[in-house]
Amino acid sequence: MSRLGIGMIGGGAISNAHLAAVAASDKAELVCVADLNASTAEEKAEKFGAKSFATDYRELLAREDVDAVIIGIPAGLHAEAALAAFQTGKHVLVEKPMARTLAECDAMIGAAEQAGKVLQVAMVRRFDADWGKVRELVQAGKVGRPCLWRRMAQGSAPQPPHGAWYSDASLSDGPLAESGAHDFDFVRYTFGDVRAVTATNWQMGRVGSVLDTGIVTLDFESGDRMLCVWSWGLPPKCGGGTLSGMDVLGPDGALQQSRHRDDGRYECVVNGPDGAQEVFDFDNPRAGDYWFSGQFDNFVESVHGRQTPRATGLDGRKAQEIALAAFESSRTGRRVELPL
Ligand SMILES: NC(=O)c1ccc[n+]([C@@H]2O[C@H](COP(=O)([O-])OP(=O)(O)OC[C@H]3O[C@@H](n4cnc5c(N)ncnc54)[C@H](O)[C@@H]3O)[C@@H](O)[C@H]2O)c1
Repeated sequence: MSRLGIGMIGGGAISNAHLAAVAASDKAELVCVADLNASTAEEKAEKFGAKSFATDYRELLAREDVDAVIIGIPAGLHAEAALAAFQTGKHVLVEKPMARTLAECDAMIGAAEQAGKVLQVAMVRRFDADWGKVRELVQAGKVGRPCLWRRMAQGSAPQPPHGAWYSDASLSDGPLAESGAHDFDFVRYTFGDVRAVTATNWQMGRVGSVLDTGIVTLDFESGDRMLCVWSWGLPPKCGGGTLSGMDVLGPDGALQQSRHRDDGRYECVVNGPDGAQEVFDFDNPRAGDYWFSGQFDNFVESVHGRQTPRATGLDGRKAQEIALAAFESSRTGRRVELPL
């Protein structure tokens, strides 16, 4: 079977992970890289073996040897690029956040359906064995249900030359939408839909105009809950806080974030009653952009109709809906019920 022709829209930081996955696949070939910046497009095309590069992604979309595109440009531009891709009959793997507004998400979902093409959202954590093990253990009832999934993460905003736009409120919704998308999506993937969102967001850092810090609690229809604290408000190269990562607390125990053992395997520990401990060990081959390869393979197989996307347009929309509900809760001081 001929290989799937891939066009990469955006040659910035995240393109490296996607393009490595394309290069490692024997089911696809990179045809073209488009970036507003000609030297970026040319450099990435050369590095990853594309036949061509372009500064206007419409040139890439006009190529008949491009069957599918990966969109890795700022979120406010995703919808326009995806709609243009569907109009030219391409399949789409789009980075998260899927788009900044629900209207844009709906337009993308509608355009994919109308074109009969695949729309997959790059919720790459769904391909991570580490978080996957936590999901498996929680769903198996190892800590009991309903339970509380706690997530804390922090750092400085992405630093120029890459990604100055991340700190500009006219171009980005900040870490809760950009990075929290992975957390909201993954926990929703585990527990099902969210019923209500309560949040406080503010700007703690000295750079840019986005709400760079947030505290969000999610109430799931299942009765489970999530606490998510995200900040990009730290100064550049600051080592961060001491509380980072995630754990899950339940009526029957506490699941600790997994650790990488000396023998190369990973282990996840569940503390039970009366000092009992269960240890679950597993492989997590992180080398070689493994998550992105798993995701890309799922995309290619979905294009061929042999699989379905692990994260659909609807999943991307629901993650963004949670982020938007968090902003609304913070603005109004109220708990926000979903759907918006
Ligand atoms: N899955 C993940 O873990 C992950 C990690 C980082 C970024 N992302 C997402 O990937 C997307 C891109 O982020 P990034 O960190 O690569 O940003 P970046 O700033 O490093 O790169 C963006 C690139 O897009 C180009 N660009 C902007 N507008 C364009 C247009 N109209 N046409 C063609 N090129 C254009 C810029 O010139 C730049 O090279 C965002 O949605 C971001 O949230 C995902």
